[in-house]
Amino acid sequence: MDATNAFAPAISSRGVGVRFFTERRSVTALQGLDLTVEQGEFLTLLGPSGCGKSTFLRVVADLIPPSSGAIDVLSASPQAARQRRDIGFVFQDAALLPWRTALQNVELPLQVGGGAARKGRRGPRELLEMVGLKDREHAYPHELSGGQRQRVSIARALVSDPKILLMDEPFGALDEITRDRLNEELLRVWQETGVTILFVTHSIHEAAFLGQRVLVMAAEPGRVREIVPVNLPGERTLASRETAEFVRLTAHLRRVLETC
Ligand SMILES: Nc1ncnc2c1ncn2[C@@H]1O[C@H](COP(=O)(O)OP(=O)(O)O)[C@@H](O)[C@H]1O
Ligand SMILES: [Mg+2]
Repeated sequence: MDATNAFAPAISSRGVGVRFFTERRSVTALQGLDLTVEQGEFLTLLGPSGCGKSTFLRVVADLIPPSSGAIDVLSASPQAARQRRDIGFVFQDAALLPWRTALQNVELPLQVGGGAARKGRRGPRELLEMVGLKDREHAYPHELSGGQRQRVSIARALVSDPKILLMDEPFGALDEITRDRLNEELLRVWQETGVTILFVTHSIHEAAFLGQRVLVMAAEPGRVREIVPVNLPGERTLASRETAEFVRLTAHLRRVLETC
């Protein structure tokens, strides 16, 4: 049985603040962050370095507690959501175990979770197929390209069937052609799974192409600068980036970023 209310927001952040204290000074990594993310939404987070994008993802994932404010993840605490395995995380570095094949890396969360591990609707092989690696399941990480390794890490993040996928600059280290292809494939994965995605990027184009909304953040203190809805007509393909609406949108995002 699934206890989560289907209509509850995926994330409800109310005035969330995070302060870090170091020996010399304190940093307000996040201040007064108000945000509601609906289940099934694709939200991109855009902003200069140090504006608290990673910090926010880490609060959602229960890796850091907020210093102020309150946050619910699927109507519960981040800790409860983590324990229920509602959250998957993909980082810039795929962080695969080098001595395990692609398939064995994807299987890992099911094994380390022991009895508590939740088996997803899709098994490891099916997920590798979904990310386009059906014929590479026995390859080791060093035999895969950077883009292929990130595909493996996406499949691994999805293996316990999380409701929320947090992605922190996952394609930041990839070349542009590979990044474009992965962007299109990620949209397909999102549509097939219905997972809620929070995706951090430095790229205006990536933020506008992937997101249903773009959360633009400003630094010192880290805060919301503007939430920009994306209304691209029709199905999104790389050709959507040539439409007048896309050009208008990215110009607007650039202007907002300049004031961050
Ligand atoms: N563990 C930490 N200790 C001290 N300061 C931190 C820590 N993590 C992040 N910060 C600071 O908090 C601010 C926000 O960081 P971060 O969330 O990583 O920004 P972003 O991901 O947007 O680049 C930065 O000023 C950063 O130096
Ligand atoms: Mg970061």
